[in-house]
Amino acid sequence: MADDFFIVQGLGGKRSLSGELPVRGSKNAALPAMASSLLFDGPLTLSNIPLIGDVEVMGEMLEELGAEVKRNSNGDLVIDAQPVRATSLPRELAKQMRASVILAGPLLARFGEIAFPHPGGCVIGARPIDLFLEGFQKMGAEYEEADSVYRLRAPKTGLRGADIFFRQPTVTGTETLLLAATRAHGKTLLRNAAMEPEVVFLAELLRASGAHIKGEGTPTIEIIGTEKLLRLPAQAGAPRKSIAVIPDRIETGSFLILGALAGKDISITHCEPEHIRILIELLRTAGVNVEAGKDSLLVRAPIKKGTAYKSFGIKTHEYPGFPTDLQAPATVFLTQAHGEALVHETIFDGRLAYTKDLVAMGADIALWDAHRASVKGPTPLRGRELHGPDLRAGLAYLIAAIVARGKSVIYNAQLIDRGYERIEERLKKIGVMIERVSN
Ligand code: EPU
Repeated sequence: MADDFFIVQGLGGKRSLSGELPVRGSKNAALPAMASSLLFDGPLTLSNIPLIGDVEVMGEMLEELGAEVKRNSNGDLVIDAQPVRATSLPRELAKQMRASVILAGPLLARFGEIAFPHPGGCVIGARPIDLFLEGFQKMGAEYEEADSVYRLRAPKTGLRGADIFFRQPTVTGTETLLLAATRAHGKTLLRNAAMEPEVVFLAELLRASGAHIKGEGTPTIEIIGTEKLLRLPAQAGAPRKSIAVIPDRIETGSFLILGALAGKDISITHCEPEHIRILIELLRTAGVNVEAGKDSLLVRAPIKKGTAYKSFGIKTHEYPGFPTDLQAPATVFLTQAHGEALVHETIFDGRLAYTKDLVAMGADIALWDAHRASVKGPTPLRGRELHGPDLRAGLAYLIAAIVARGKSVIYNAQLIDRGYERIEERLKKIGVMIERVSN
């Protein structure tokens, strides 16, 4: 897997793809849900967990900590974290993935101490953890850092509830402190909290299992901590078997963009259109024919052949604004739309680097600074050799390669595999000419 690459034969601007694209479970909802197993009294069974690299890494980390992790034949993931005793995150694995830091919340709450390295992850700009550390301190923990390893210790009596205001809404920061607060003494308020659907999902999972949480999906979340371990409640007299992870909204949005650019008629199923409302609204103003059902989307090519879409500006924003994770695929859309538009990346400061590769493919993009680029379209794209800088830009390259004329080679397939399950097999089914080459 390590050095796999994709070869894509582009459609040269034709809108010919057709069929169904089922969306898998959300990566960024699955990871904190897996981490929450550390607070459970017995096994936690999660369904709709995608088969992706980051889930593997999180599973391996839990195993190294002492948990039992297995996949049932139906695909459900069962994690029993009761045997866990270790309180140091495995260094190499933790450095591979930013989301490893989420484990710090439940581990600190359960054992009173935790050591972890500065988390790694996608190269999309500075990704500090100051807000996590300050939150833990407010809950009474002390920390020291040496050689990029953080050591945190809770008071002897355990973490205390606290009033925490995030200077900047942070998704994993909110999730980590939410997990910790579930087992702290007393009340915690998380203010200016992230409102992303993944945060809401985690709060619902914890509440369904006995935690006292309210306000998720708003800027203030209130948690009353409890000593009791969590357990999925009985349903109709029988133990609830599993909890299903929400569909991946970034995959949904990326498929929608692909459908708009290269689809004749594509139906995107098992999704939650409301989670990408902003993208649907923007694509509709551009002239894309999108029909939204309760859990599906239908995107059809314009009736008049060759009709060009209109451009629109993008400003990334916390939910329900435009997701930074859809910024790169949306920029590919803009290269094919009429007009000039500004792409303003407000969340991360290294997330426009991929635009130079789109320029090499024929796009007309001016990069003004680390946060802003303008895109003039439409311009035909030509196939290229590409190295994705992160998993979201990697998928944007796949979309660009499908739209382009000629052959593209996309290296670092493992980056795309971190977040998208067997993408080539799924794209082939709708007519994409794509092959994975394994070394
Ligand atoms: N920030 C700080 N200090 C902190 C934490 C965050 O300054 O202690 C800043 C970040 O540098 C950034 C902003 O706050 O400028 C928001 O970052 P956030 O913490 O929300 O990002 P994250 O939790 O690390 C999650 C997703 C990302 C997604 C962002 C933004 C997961 C596992 N990751 O990251 O997803 O881009 O929220 O929505 O949920 C991806 O899936 O490819 C991905 C990068």
